[in-house]
Amino acid sequence: MHQVDQTTEQMVRSVLAYAENRLRMDPVPLDRGTQPAADLYKALGGVIRDNPRAPDEVLGIYSSVIAPSIISADSPRFLGFIPAAPTKASLLFDMVVSCASIQGISWLEASGAIAAENTVLRVIADEAGLPASAGGCFVSGGSAGNLSALAVAREMAKNRLGGEAAGRRLRVVVGTDAHSSIINTLRLLEMDALVVTTPDHRLTADALSAAIDADPDVGDVAAVVCTSGTTNAGIIDDLAGVGKIAKQRDWWFHVDGAYGGSGIFARSLRDKYVGIEQADSFILDPHKWLFTPFDCCALIYRQPELARGTHTQDASYLDVIHVSEGEWNPTDYAYHLTRRARGLPLWFSLAVYGLDAYREAIEAAVRLARDTAVLIKATPHLELIREPDLGVVLFRRIGWKPADYDAWAQALHDDEVAFIPPTKWEGETVGRFAFLHPHTSMDLVKAILGRTA
Ligand SMILES: Cc1ncc(COP(=O)(O)O)c(C=O)c1O
Repeated sequence: MHQVDQTTEQMVRSVLAYAENRLRMDPVPLDRGTQPAADLYKALGGVIRDNPRAPDEVLGIYSSVIAPSIISADSPRFLGFIPAAPTKASLLFDMVVSCASIQGISWLEASGAIAAENTVLRVIADEAGLPASAGGCFVSGGSAGNLSALAVAREMAKNRLGGEAAGRRLRVVVGTDAHSSIINTLRLLEMDALVVTTPDHRLTADALSAAIDADPDVGDVAAVVCTSGTTNAGIIDDLAGVGKIAKQRDWWFHVDGAYGGSGIFARSLRDKYVGIEQADSFILDPHKWLFTPFDCCALIYRQPELARGTHTQDASYLDVIHVSEGEWNPTDYAYHLTRRARGLPLWFSLAVYGLDAYREAIEAAVRLARDTAVLIKATPHLELIREPDLGVVLFRRIGWKPADYDAWAQALHDDEVAFIPPTKWEGETVGRFAFLHPHTSMDLVKAILGRTA
């Protein structure tokens, strides 16, 4: 084996020292995000040139220009959109996956990595109550998971409808609060949404039955999508009731748990997910609430062979990867071919910390959301918009206009207290906490709510 040259030797030391320093930060700094585009391009212009540069010089540009301009989604002060909180074990093991460039395409090339990923998918499927036949793969994110699952749903509907489907656009039933990636997926797959107006933004069996009764012909419906839970408010649809109707009508039942699906691991939440076991496909993003680095979505099918029928790529050079009994090619279960073994950091972390630590970390965010709701209700100038189901809390500050929320959020970010952009609820600008990081504290919540701007 060749020894690495001196430059590589120095680069290994510098980059690992940088990574080690970042890994030891607890908590990590929130940082700023948006920097003026002109400043960034000026600082980065010409860095890539014909001649080499010293690795330390380039690392210096990264640490002085690029790193501070990225908000740390894994800071306990990041309370916007959906935060992240990767465990130290998962971050470390992500480095192992990267430094060995481990792919997870086919059993032929990476059987051990795939077997380990599959044990994680099995843990998730068991928690959801899916049958022993269930399986799938890890994809880059919820959008990729939704697209891959609904592509299978469309094929199944075409098979079911036979000649009837020819020249007809199929439809997918969604609630008003389904994620934007579902709407994008339908556009890409040339399907239309049958949008069911829902009481309290929750897709229920009653609302779905009313929509079916009001529709002249639901023969073109391929699937129904439930969300568990919604991104803006953390609401879990009526999985039991909607799933039952889907089964009766032979519609594909897809559950989008990209954000909230991990709640199945929390004992205090488990009842809210009853019905998830009926899913034909289910996704959850470990890069959200299963404490894994980006980018990672678990995509699980009740009958994976149906997905294989839709997604397996056919090329003469790929013939050798087609599997024998007991083998598994993750590439066959989504629209991708090449993929990194992105489930391995989660495998390592779950094994190191154990499932109970995960259950407790999820409960911590739910408790904080409930305590925050109590505080808001007890504060005269604040109003709780709805009781939180998961880790999201929506509230109104009496008398505030959109510009007041913007100024408040900006000041909090400028002072690096928190990143907490406002959202919209029924057209009105409101405040929104998204709790996920187990180290976000009630003291921080009080500081945020106590600020006027
Ligand atoms: C419910 C839901 N579905 C899908 C997605 C898309 O996931 P990703 O951003 O990983 O593509 C999100 C992202 O927040 C989500 O909350």
